[in-house]
Formats: sequence, structure tokens, C-alpha cells
Amino acid sequence: MAAETNKQSMYEGSEVQSFQFYLQHSGEHAAVLRFFREYLPGEFKRIAADKSNLAVLGVGSGGGELDVQMLSLLQSVCPTLPISADVVEGSTELVANFKALVAKTDNLEKIPFTWHVMLSEDYKKQVKDVKKYDFIHMIQMIYYVDNLTETIKFYRSCLNKNGRLMIIVEKAGDGWDLLWRTFSKQLCNESNITYRSSGDVLASVKTLGLQYEEHSIPNTFDITECFDPNSETGQRLLRFMTATEDFSRSFTPQIRADMLKFLRSKCSAEKEGKVYFNSCLSCISVHA
Ligand SMILES: C[S@@+](CC[C@H](N)C(=O)[O-])C[C@H]1O[C@@H](n2cnc3c(N)ncnc32)[C@H](O)[C@@H]1O
Repeated sequence: MAAETNKQSMYEGSEVQSFQFYLQHSGEHAAVLRFFREYLPGEFKRIAADKSNLAVLGVGSGGGELDVQMLSLLQSVCPTLPISADVVEGSTELVANFKALVAKTDNLEKIPFTWHVMLSEDYKKQVKDVKKYDFIHMIQMIYYVDNLTETIKFYRSCLNKNGRLMIIVEKAGDGWDLLWRTFSKQLCNESNITYRSSGDVLASVKTLGLQYEEHSIPNTFDITECFDPNSETGQRLLRFMTATEDFSRSFTPQIRADMLKFLRSKCSAEKEGKVYFNSCLSCISVHA
């Protein structure tokens, strides 16, 4: 995943389908949810101490699959505290999916939602009296914001005392980062993208002099079919991983061959005849 420099970054139509296909095959949400169950209860208890209500903001929440799980977890950790949720998401299609998911998730009817169907940049411009939140999360979306340091500075300024800004992003030095940095000329040119990983987020956080913690979210997924040009699954995974319309028609044949070789030898591990892509994520929790 990576950052688009134009403002076509929100997912609609074929991007939604490609992302959902990726989620089904990558186990990414399952890995993040495992991490949430270990990490968030302690974090939520600290955030909620001395509070009479809790305000949560999700930025780039997509279809809300992770948000509803986080909010349910927050309810179970703080059963007596009223919770409200705001969502800033650019995709009308994914907001509709999110609303449908809220409607069918037990207990979420107790949480009032405010939907800001807009880009993060527009939310930042639009809010005059900045609303304060106790927990703000940006999961796999920081690639798409215009100015990374300014964005972190803005959302951190929206935190209440003891609040946390949780950014989840591809981990520096792991599979995504190696692929996108090694082939940045081709991948970024083809998709009009600049790439970011946890290394870039940490650089911004350090420039701003903020206190933070970093945690790894390990994950791998099977990309064996990417090496079979006749596999539809492989081609669809490659489409998402390289942010191309059609991997088999993008770049020169030599570059495609080099990328596939690099994917196998540097970004993955082989086990029992299968190739597993190293897709570790990083959670950077910025303090108020
Ligand atoms: C990779 S998806 C992640 C969705 C969700 N957080 C998850 O992990 O399943 C990125 C999401 O960010 C949204 N997005 C992209 N650019 C955005 C922006 N500038 N402001 C708000 N949302 C944006 C997209 O529409 C998409 O839903």
C-alpha cells in the first residue's frame, strides 16, 4: 500500500473489490485483531482512567471491520462509560458498508456515530472548533494523506488528556517496504504514488518531539499463486500489491520478472513448497 499524491486516494468501485480480495487472502485483519486483544484492553483502561465519557475517532476506517471490533472491546473494558464514535472516511461506498455493519453488530446501537464522509484534509480544514477525542486511530491509511508530519501534528492536537493516537502502518524493512523501496521508480511512477512505512511515521513523530511506543504486528500470507501467470488469485494479489490496474500488462517483461524474483527471494520465506510474503505491520501509539 502506498500514498497517492493526487486526491483519488479514497477507495471506490474496483479499488474496494481489490482491497476486499486482499483482505480475504492476507489474514491482515485477523492479525490486527489478535494484536488488539492483547494490547488494547490495557491501553483503554489507561485512557479511560478519570473519564466520564469516551470519544473515539477513526480516520480512513474503510468498511469499519476493525472499528466495530475495537468499539466492542472498549465497551467490554469500560462497561459503564458512555462512548461516542466519529468516522472520517473518504469513500461513500465503504461508509455505506460500515453503517450496515454497525446496524448488525450487537450493542453498538448504544454508541452514537457521527459520519464525516470526506478526506482527512477536508476534515482538518472544516473543523473550526476542533473536537477532542480520547482515542484516535489511523489504520493502513497514513499512505494517503498529503503531509504526514502535519497530519500527525493535527490529530495529536485533537487528543484529550491521556489520549492516544494509534497509527498502524507497514513495518520498515519488511516485505512491503522492501518491495516498494526497491522498485520505487517503477511502482511510484506507474501509480502516481509516494511510499511510506513505519520508518517515515517515526521520523515525523521524532521531528515533532512526541512521546510514543512502537509494537510489531506479525503477519505472513501465501503468495505462491503470484508466480503462476495463469492464476487469477495470483494476478489479483499482484494487482493490489503493486497498485497497478493489471500487473501482467504493467512495466517491461524484465521489470516484472525482476519484481517476481525479488518478491520470492527478499520479501518472503518458503515453507513446504509455498511462498509466504512477510507482511508485518507496526503500531505506533503517540501520547497526548
Ligand atoms: C487500505 S484502506 C484501510 C481501511 C481500514 N482502516 C482497514 O484497515 O481495513 C485505506 C482507507 O483510507 C481511505 N482514505 C484514503 N485516503 C483518505 C483520506 N485522505 N482521508 C480519509 N480517508 C482516506 C480509503 O477510502 C480507504 O477506506
